[in-house]
Amino acid sequence: MGKLKLNINDVTPWVTKEEINELADAATMANMALHDGTLLGNDFLGWVDLPSSITESQIEEIEKTAIHLRTHCDVVVVVGIGGSYLGAKAVIDALSNSFDWLQDKRKNPVILYAGNNISEDYFYELVEYLNGRSFGIINISKSGTTTEPALAFRILKDKLEREVGKEESRNRIVAITDASKGALRDLAMNEGYKTFVIPDNVGGRYSVLTPVGLLPIAVAGINIRLLLHGASEIEKETSRDASFKNNLAAIYAVTRNELYKRGKKIELLVNFHPKLHYFAEWWKQLFGESEGKDNKGIFNASVNFTTDLHSMGQWIQEGERTIFETIISIEEPNKKVKIPHDELDLDGLNYLEGKRVDEVNKMAELGTRIAHVDGGVPNIVITIPELSPYYVGQLIYFFEKACGISGYLLGVNPFDQPGVEAYKKNMFALLEKPGFEKETEEIKRRI
Ligand code: PA5
Repeated sequence: MGKLKLNINDVTPWVTKEEINELADAATMANMALHDGTLLGNDFLGWVDLPSSITESQIEEIEKTAIHLRTHCDVVVVVGIGGSYLGAKAVIDALSNSFDWLQDKRKNPVILYAGNNISEDYFYELVEYLNGRSFGIINISKSGTTTEPALAFRILKDKLEREVGKEESRNRIVAITDASKGALRDLAMNEGYKTFVIPDNVGGRYSVLTPVGLLPIAVAGINIRLLLHGASEIEKETSRDASFKNNLAAIYAVTRNELYKRGKKIELLVNFHPKLHYFAEWWKQLFGESEGKDNKGIFNASVNFTTDLHSMGQWIQEGERTIFETIISIEEPNKKVKIPHDELDLDGLNYLEGKRVDEVNKMAELGTRIAHVDGGVPNIVITIPELSPYYVGQLIYFFEKACGISGYLLGVNPFDQPGVEAYKKNMFALLEKPGFEKETEEIKRRI
């Protein structure tokens, strides 16, 4: 089996290898702290050994439930927001056929998402799509009290019960939530839904390798054992006592922190495959929520190339020099498409005849990297041999570990998200939620 590789050659001259090595001890200590629980947020470190500690019976239970949903439903709606859906969507999109959900004869159920927005049109159109289709729901909320998924679940549960009755609805609803507390736990107990537990010590954005991610991923027909296997390989490589030179997650964490100190305040996660779009969304949440606090932290953004070379490409090449790029590079695509000969050659593309499309994509990737480095944008490259469950598992754990180390190097608690409460408080006050009377009064004075 191949392995994830990290290339930081193109961060010089902004940061030298010597400067990175100077932080080896600090990064190694940060990594140890994640294992020993000696720094901030130590009650949220359950993700550190998830790949190696998940038991056979836990995996079997997830697989059994996935088969049950696949047998009973043509469509499964994953209800959740933030860490409660992004990991699943990232993996499912990365590893599924891009056009699978448009096929009439399908091997896998269509996976849709709700509870990650409050758009009325989205709700209407989703409910409309579900008309006449046999659907099920995986309702995910760690706190069990988040408004967006609660609202979506209320609407979808009502629809399902009207269509198939309460009894059959129970057969098609799975709840994933806290072991004992929260409104979703109470509701699931009351209704008798099948449930899975999100461990107390795993925060939402680090929960993709718990049932939060694993169940929807398995329902989509993806091998979760290979995903976990890939993740556990990187868990081993970045173990408590791993040396800095072998700990690629630590090297990445140090490199991005050093770039940040030198004014590179924005990190763009770059891909050359549209299937990775949502992987970047997951990554943005992971790093953004973990590091953006105490008035510091890299701003995480993402671009899909070559698409965005025709939109943001200009800014990246010549705009303010405050960015660096982290590229996810895929060595070998899963499928082959060759460029055909054309008699007239009016498009002038016969010079590419017989080449694979990926050869063109790879030259676009290399050409872009060289251009951006020349234009003042440091590049970090993370390469995996192919897009498969095993390597996506490696990427997931690599970024999770890097994020924990990076947050500690930055001096923040990478496992809380106090800032997320501000909008909720205002929304509840504006909606006149019981218990928010004082806030309602205050906010009404301001508008
Ligand atoms: O990472 C996090 O903790 C958050 O993004 C949560 O996942 C998100 O707010 C959803 O929370 P919950 O699962 O409690 O509904």
